[in-house]
Amino acid sequence: MTPTPTVGIVGAGQLARMMIEAATPLDIPIRLLAASPNDAAARISPNVDIGSPKSSEDLIAFGKHCDIVTFDHELVDLKSIRELEQTGQHVYPSANALLHAQDKLHQRTVFTSAGFPIPDFLPVKSTEEIIAFAETHGWPVVVKAQRDGYDGRGVWILENRSDADSLIANATTNNVSLLVEQFIPIDRELAGLIARRPSGEFELYPIVETVQRNGICHEVIAPAAIPESISKRAIDLTIAVAEQADVVGNMALELFLVGDELLINEIATRPHNSGHFSIEGCHTSQFENHLRAILDWPLGSASLRSGAVVMANLLGRGENRLEDGVPAALKATSPGIHPHLYGKTSRLGRKIGHVTATGDDLEETRTRATVAAETLMTATANTIGAPS
Ligand SMILES: Nc1ncnc2c1ncn2[C@@H]1O[C@H](COP(=O)(O)OP(=O)(O)OP(=O)(O)O)[C@@H](O)[C@H]1O
Ligand SMILES: [Mg+2]
Repeated sequence: MTPTPTVGIVGAGQLARMMIEAATPLDIPIRLLAASPNDAAARISPNVDIGSPKSSEDLIAFGKHCDIVTFDHELVDLKSIRELEQTGQHVYPSANALLHAQDKLHQRTVFTSAGFPIPDFLPVKSTEEIIAFAETHGWPVVVKAQRDGYDGRGVWILENRSDADSLIANATTNNVSLLVEQFIPIDRELAGLIARRPSGEFELYPIVETVQRNGICHEVIAPAAIPESISKRAIDLTIAVAEQADVVGNMALELFLVGDELLINEIATRPHNSGHFSIEGCHTSQFENHLRAILDWPLGSASLRSGAVVMANLLGRGENRLEDGVPAALKATSPGIHPHLYGKTSRLGRKIGHVTATGDDLEETRTRATVAAETLMTATANTIGAPS
């Protein structure tokens, strides 16, 4: 009998942690490349290499300990990933697919040639180029760092020339490459999630609505309350983009809905925050299907287990300690409430956990998710008493 291949995960944040949780029942061996033993996933795994995802040496050494390499995030040294591929290592998603997620300019250039609907954009280096773009498209405009952005860091809305001047000055000092794009008057943000095997066989999750504030995802609502025709177009786009990028594993497609027009914002070639609801909400979670896809195993059904599922992110407020709020949150809102704590220290705005509520009625389910999230996020050692 051949043993189950060892899956190496580059990065050890909450996504790797939830991949480990999905790997356990299937007894899939996991190894991590973590920056520190305190990383969210390293805290629950005995098989950890400590190293940097940006170091060629560390990545190549890590590859030797694994049969398949996958990722918790895309902030990795792509040249070494290509080297790993050249040694015959299975890397999923491939370096080519990963480049889409790593480089917003590359992604937009490829999507334009493929004819996918995206906001107009332009790489820019100077205030004058931003002004010229704004004169054509109108203010405000959105400027983005081409690489290394997440949770809205690396996204700026500019209202005028003086905003552009200070951003360009800052970017020049910090050596950040930029692109500018049209500001879209978004009605709703949606996400398509797909798990795809090397053969191209795939499993699709229901289209969800993501609720963002200040560039950070606060809530995910499944299924999105949108007309069937829009859902169908979002699904078709998700499949087409996954095929175009030749993603193996999970992919999330972030979409803007404006009137009845759909525009692509960006893709992630891995499990994604918009799919956390699937752990309790679907027959097979995005984490399990990601592992099944990269192992080239049969995929599981991604359909919903209940009529409504709502996920709320738990964000750091500086002083809060989620762990102190767990008993109260469970008592106040159970049943059908599932808190996930990532074991991360609280910092303002940092994603340190999430909570999922399942139910039949969307509004009632959403209220339960919100109440549970608020109870958890406001907890400190002093505010929550012992459970009764
Ligand atoms: N062109 C745009 N017009 C209007 N709002 C936008 C535009 N681009 C981005 N946004 C808003 O900013 C949010 C974050 O943008 P984006 O997804 O590009 O950033 P990110 O930091 O890469 O995010 P992530 O956390 O998904 O990695 C979007 O979800 C949306 O709410
Ligand atoms: Mg995004």
